[in-house]
Order: sequence, then structure tokens, then C-alpha cells
Amino acid sequence: MSRPPIYNAFLHLTPNHHSHGFWRTPEGRVQYGYKDLDPYIDVVRTLERGRIDTLFIADVVGVYDLDFGDGSTTIRAGSQFPENDPITIVSALGHVTTDLGIAVTSNIIQDHPFSFARRLSSLDHFTHGRVAWNIVTSYLSNGFRNYGYDTIVGHDERYAWAQEYVDVTYKLWEHSWEDGAVLHDAETGRFFDPDRIHTIDHEGRWYKVQGPHLVEPSPQRTPVLFQAGNSPAGRDFAARNAEVTFLPSMSPATARDDIAILDDHLRSVGRTPDALKKIVALSTVIGSTEEEARRKQEYFRENIDFEALQAFWSGGSGIDLSAVDPDTPLAELARRVQLGDHVQSIFRAAADATDDASAVSWRDYLLSNGLLPGKFAGTPEQIADHVAEWVAAGADGFNVVPITTLGWWDEWVDHVVPVLQERGLAQREYAPGTLRDKIFGNGDRIDAGHRVHQVGLTPAGV
Ligand SMILES: Cc1cc2nc3c(=O)[nH]c(=O)nc-3n(C[C@H](O)[C@H](O)[C@H](O)COP(=O)(O)O)c2cc1C
Repeated sequence: MSRPPIYNAFLHLTPNHHSHGFWRTPEGRVQYGYKDLDPYIDVVRTLERGRIDTLFIADVVGVYDLDFGDGSTTIRAGSQFPENDPITIVSALGHVTTDLGIAVTSNIIQDHPFSFARRLSSLDHFTHGRVAWNIVTSYLSNGFRNYGYDTIVGHDERYAWAQEYVDVTYKLWEHSWEDGAVLHDAETGRFFDPDRIHTIDHEGRWYKVQGPHLVEPSPQRTPVLFQAGNSPAGRDFAARNAEVTFLPSMSPATARDDIAILDDHLRSVGRTPDALKKIVALSTVIGSTEEEARRKQEYFRENIDFEALQAFWSGGSGIDLSAVDPDTPLAELARRVQLGDHVQSIFRAAADATDDASAVSWRDYLLSNGLLPGKFAGTPEQIADHVAEWVAAGADGFNVVPITTLGWWDEWVDHVVPVLQERGLAQREYAPGTLRDKIFGNGDRIDAGHRVHQVGLTPAGV
């Protein structure tokens, strides 16, 4: 039986995730608490009350520094700066919840795969199998300069690097310890069976790792894998590796096409289309009437710091938008960015989603679309209709983008979730088991066609 769509709650341990400048309003001040633990504890308790599947914590490892040259705009505005390290909060959030999945973003440039695999296995134990990893390759030049590079590594080269990175983690998680290696046999004095615990002896272009893995297999072994690439190289990476992917689609019509392309790709690498959940952004303003929702949306947009919004998109796109007239047609920008080394798909998706991209200006697009929260204004019933349209187009779930990352979730859980539940568009109870089992209903282990099963212990097995 198919389950209702999955919902992720989008979060970031920073003053401002996507609502650039909204922290200046009375409603936005809740973000001042971004560096305390308690507001995040409140968030996860609320999410669990609303039977939300997964908390999804974004992260970047640098400053959005292209616009206006030196990052001073995003630093001034607190736009994805500062960045507390999301991995540090997972144990605490896991401890006060019982069912919520916790997806944490970690970048291939920030951590060695041996340390990272060890950290995630530990967290998967501590949360009884509820962690997920959002695999990212970084799109910020400053991020690369923070880790010893002169500039951003080429776009497709990053995905090749990411493939080796994840292969190392797969070997550690899936192949270093055989099932049955844990004995706890006081009679023979064998806590573990050394014959069933192996080195991985990985030698590749970027890494050399002996092993064995330093943590015994956790409930899921490999955490649930999230990924968001939508360039050709990114899509190929997602098809081979991800279990949940974020589509760049801006409308149900484009989602249909994006899903069909991905499904073909999955089949071509030996995986079934249902092994990869395709989810879209759901960004709403909630009102008790449509008029109230529109008023709130207008208020939100009036309080956006447009300069910070431009700076944010500059860092992501690799184009210095301080030099681009905000009246430039979107289609022209989309053409300029296609072959860049940063996020390749963002402008394409924007242009595709717009009926007449040559008539829509960059300014209009930024204020009404993109990742800016509050794109859809409506009553809970209208939001449920909107959700139903995406589901009919084939979306498996949603990345819910809040107006403020802290505080806002009560509004969603109290007003929208009951309507979604009533219409069979959201779960009423959590399924038992690990996060993977809750989402896919097929046990704790990753799907049979996944690359983890093709990556062996010797270089010949890679
Ligand atoms: C919903 C969503 C969340 C993302 N979260 C992060 C993140 O937290 N950190 C990050 O560095 N990149 C993040 N990304 C960027 C992706 O990892 C990826 O770089 C981007 O989708 C571009 O891929 P492409 O160049 O293959 O199109 C996110 C993308 C999407 C759509």
C-alpha cells in the first residue's frame, strides 16, 4: 500500500536561512535564538507532534562572497552566516524525540570520509536508526578557500570526487563488518569475531583508507541518503546514490518531466523508480482566509532585504548580481549561467517554470519565486489542494520551507497538518522502525540495486 507523501522540515542553524532580512520584523525576531539549543528542541517536539517525517538541516561551509566582492552584504544581513555546525546538534535532538528522522548536511570538502562515516554510524546508534545524510559538494568559492583550495573545484569534477567519497563510506558502513561479527560471548572471551571484521584497503584518486570501520554496524548501516543535484552530472549522481532527491521543479508540470527523466536514469543504473523519493519545495503563507494569507505574504515580501537576497543568489550562481540590472529578463540570466561551476540548475529551473521567461524580470522572480519562503498564500484547505496537485504530478513528498526556521512550525502543525491528514495527504501516525523503514516500508537496508552492493572491499570491486 502506498503511504502518504513524506514531509521534511527545512532548517538551518543560522540567523537567516531564506527569509533574507525578515529578522528585522517583530515576527522575525525569533531568529535571534539561532545559537541556543532550546528553540531547536521546541522545533523538533512540534514536528513530532505533527508527525513530520524528517528534520532536514542545511549547511554551507563558507560565506556567500561573490556579490559586492567580499561577503560583507551577507555578513551584514546574517544571511546563512554565521553557521553553527549541524552535526553538533543531532544527538541532542535525537534524545528528545523518538520517531523524527534527522537529516544532516555534510560537505565532501569539510571532512575526511573515514571520520565522517564514523560520526554518522555513532549518531545512527544514538538515534536508533533515524539519521540521514544530505550529500553536498559545495557551491561556494569561499568554502573551497577555507579548506585549502585556491578556488572552487570544477562542477563535474566535484561529483567525481563525491562518488569516491561516498564509495569509501559505503565500504566502511556496509562491507567492513559482516553480519554476525558481534558475539558478546563471555564463555570464549570474544566480544567480536575478528574473522568477520575486515579492512577496506581503499586506494583511489582522492583517498587511501585502510579500515576497519571503527563503529559496529548501526541500525541502518548506511544512513538514508539525500541529494539535490539536477545538472546532468548531479542527476547521474542522484540516480546512483540518493534515496531522497530534491527536484528543482517549480510547477507540477515541470515536476512531471523532471520525474520521468530521473526514473529513466534510475532504470539505466539498475534501480527501480520507487527506490528514489522525489520531493519538491513547499513554501507557504498560511491564513484563515485567502485574503489574510495574501496580506501576510505582502508583508513578508515588503520586509525582504533585497540586497541580501541578491548576494545570496550571487554566491549560489557564481554570477556577481550586483552588476546585473534587476530588470534583466530571467531567460537571459539562465543562458549566462548554464556552464558555470556553481549551482547549474537554479536558473534553468526558474526559466523553465516561467511561461514567458523573457518577460519576467530577475527582480520579480526573486521576490515571488525561487527559494524565497511564502510562495503560495492560502488557507489550509487551499494548501491541501496545492499539495494534491503536486502528488498527482508524481511528487513523493515535500521540503517544507518555513517563513522563520524557529517558531513558525506550530502554525503549520496546528492548522495545515490536520487538513492534510483528513485528506489522506499526511500520515496520522509514524510507522515503526528505522527512518528508512518508515519512509520506504521495506526494512532497514538500502535497496538491492543501489551502488553500495556493487562497491566491494578491494579496488577491483569498485
Ligand atoms: C532543497 C535543497 C537543499 C540544499 N541544501 C544544500 C545545503 O544545505 N548545502 C549545500 O552546500 N548545498 C545544498 N543544496 C545544493 C545542492 O547540493 C546542489 O549543489 C545543487 O542542487 C546544485 O546541483 P547541480 O549543480 O547538480 O544542479 C541544496 C539544494 C536544494 C534543492
